[in-house]
Amino acid sequence: KKRVFSGVQPTGNLHLGNYLGAVSRFVALQEHYDCIYCVVDMHAITVPQEPEALTRQIREVTAAFLASGVDPQKHIVFNQSQVSEHAELAWICNCVARIGWMNRMTQFKDKAGKDRENASLGLYAYPSLMAADILVYRADAVPVGEDQKQHVELTRDIAQKFNNDYAGSIAAHGFGEAFFPLPEPLIQGSSTRVMSLRDGTKKMSKSDPSDYSRINLKDDADTIAQKIRKAKTDPEPLPETAEELAARPEADNLVGIFATLAERMPEDVLREFAGSQFSSFKAALVDVAVAKLAPISAEMQRLAADPGYIDSVLADGSRRARGIARETMNAVKDIVGFVRDR
Ligand code: TYM
Repeated sequence: KKRVFSGVQPTGNLHLGNYLGAVSRFVALQEHYDCIYCVVDMHAITVPQEPEALTRQIREVTAAFLASGVDPQKHIVFNQSQVSEHAELAWICNCVARIGWMNRMTQFKDKAGKDRENASLGLYAYPSLMAADILVYRADAVPVGEDQKQHVELTRDIAQKFNNDYAGSIAAHGFGEAFFPLPEPLIQGSSTRVMSLRDGTKKMSKSDPSDYSRINLKDDADTIAQKIRKAKTDPEPLPETAEELAARPEADNLVGIFATLAERMPEDVLREFAGSQFSSFKAALVDVAVAKLAPISAEMQRLAADPGYIDSVLADGSRRARGIARETMNAVKDIVGFVRDR
């Protein structure tokens, strides 16, 4: 079986974009891949985090994975900081990646803002740690939303350069032509970029100051209904074709959300609602959203009452992840030429 790796940051509330673009995909991939899903707590501290909130959010993201249907017995669920090989391989990745590559990362530019001199060195090196996350399991595929595509491409560049720079040593140690597989980004479905409910040109994000811009996985049914009713739309009824829809960002976003939640094609949703007013479409959207999300938030709440169980899932996952990561790291140390304690 091929191996999948992906990660989610334990910062702020998980929202519908994270769920549709990533976590629901994690669940779907379990059937055909060996999956490793990671709560990337070391990535979280690239910007300041309040320690107690970080602890709570690590458990919350874990609960969201489980409540959505990730199976921690058949697959691996853990938090990044507990497998120190991520940090070790990240150093090697830092030494393979070029400064020019990092300077092209658009997420760093967005997150660092104007005061770039004052951003943490960790925020700058963030994509290199992400490459290490993926490569330490020699993963074949990485399910992510559209916004992470550039980081997965950078991971491929780092893997490729390592394979080239150390080609002789890789062969000499019996690993053949290439040590790291080049991971494929899996950016699939109708919701690879869920937009803000307040502005169809902005991505739905954890950091938007308006809570009405997003649906949180923890929102109750009334809150979900209210946010959808207040979502920005244009005054026209829903169009007939995908082309007409594409020119209307807010409408496009809501139809995409409906389609993914209902596990239908956007064209099929349009066929049902072409000519309808948004008031009736939104009522139907509330129904599918609540039907899909209410059981998840109820299960998250149930799990929140038992942090001991969550912690035991993470501990078991870390132990299993470490087994794989250590093997890769030993090989990498040999390839690089470090002397190892044996
Ligand atoms: P993060 O924590 O910001 O987001 C987690 C996942 O949710 C996706 N996502 C979205 N998808 C659709 N629409 C949106 N509006 C939306 N917002 C977020 C993200 O694309 C992501 O898949 N760097 C990563 C975490 C990470 C990682 C990794 C991912 C660290 N190491 C290794 C994959 C492999 C991040 O910040 O995601």
